[in-house]
Amino acid sequence: MKKLIAAALIAVMTLSLAACGSKEAEEPATATTPDTETAPETETDKEEEPQENQEPAATPDADGGAYGEFTTVTDGVLTMGTNAAFPPYEFYEGENIVGIDAEIAELLAEKLGLKLEIVDMDFTAIITSVQTGKVDMGLAGMTVDEERLKNVNFTDSYATGVQVIIVKEDSDIQSVEDLKGKLIGVQEGTTGHSYCKDDYGEENINALTNGATAVQALVNGKVDCVVIDEQPAISFVEANEGLKILETEYVVEDYAAAVSKDNDGLKDALNAALKELKEDGSIQEILDKYIKSE
Ligand code: ARG
Repeated sequence: MKKLIAAALIAVMTLSLAACGSKEAEEPATATTPDTETAPETETDKEEEPQENQEPAATPDADGGAYGEFTTVTDGVLTMGTNAAFPPYEFYEGENIVGIDAEIAELLAEKLGLKLEIVDMDFTAIITSVQTGKVDMGLAGMTVDEERLKNVNFTDSYATGVQVIIVKEDSDIQSVEDLKGKLIGVQEGTTGHSYCKDDYGEENINALTNGATAVQALVNGKVDCVVIDEQPAISFVEANEGLKILETEYVVEDYAAAVSKDNDGLKDALNAALKELKEDGSIQEILDKYIKSE
């Protein structure tokens, strides 16, 4: 597996070198790749003359098209790991997982010539699933964060998020300062969880499985507040009577897709596709569709 990726990487490097203008490198990339497991094509393999001055194919192609060479867990499929209790980024509409991340992933897959498959899992399982090759990418309103960077790489960011505090309408918590000594509900393994742990101590935290259960705990009076990302907070407050979001912002962060440290090919391909989707306004369109500006 590793070898395959390494070979693919060398091929990508060779390809991009070729694309950088040296007209000597007219052979397909593999032919100039030194020391890979596959025997380089020999001079006698001249059955079909390669076409003069070949540019990389312009059509998306998992085997080295406009987005370079990359591998996916399942051929022809982009497998996305997420935790679909996080509206408007990912949530269920009937049987289907929809939302900002689902729509962005759909466009990314389309660009790369892949079929999208979404796997719903606990948020805490996403990074491991990326690392162990169960999924190609984690896309889950996931914040780029130093701890996670020890285990995975992140693509460029596609959105920003803000940690906010949800309380009951009649709560005596009015700002971040009032959180001291309160029981704080968080989604287990999220950045909100780790900030609160650092600032208020684990003993003051009730870590729930996901955003929906954390908000349920608040509704049921099991916690005094919930620290969660702003857009999900807005969705949950809309869906539940008697809750409000405090004006104070707790922390601002960047969302990106998590990919394996062993798959820079995929990271580069996703970044190239993301760049196009940002430039042509598609990402903004999706964000605007789900996020109402005040
Ligand atoms: N942005 C926060 C983090 O990365 C929360 C993300 C939770 N996402 C989800 N799909 N449940 O830790």
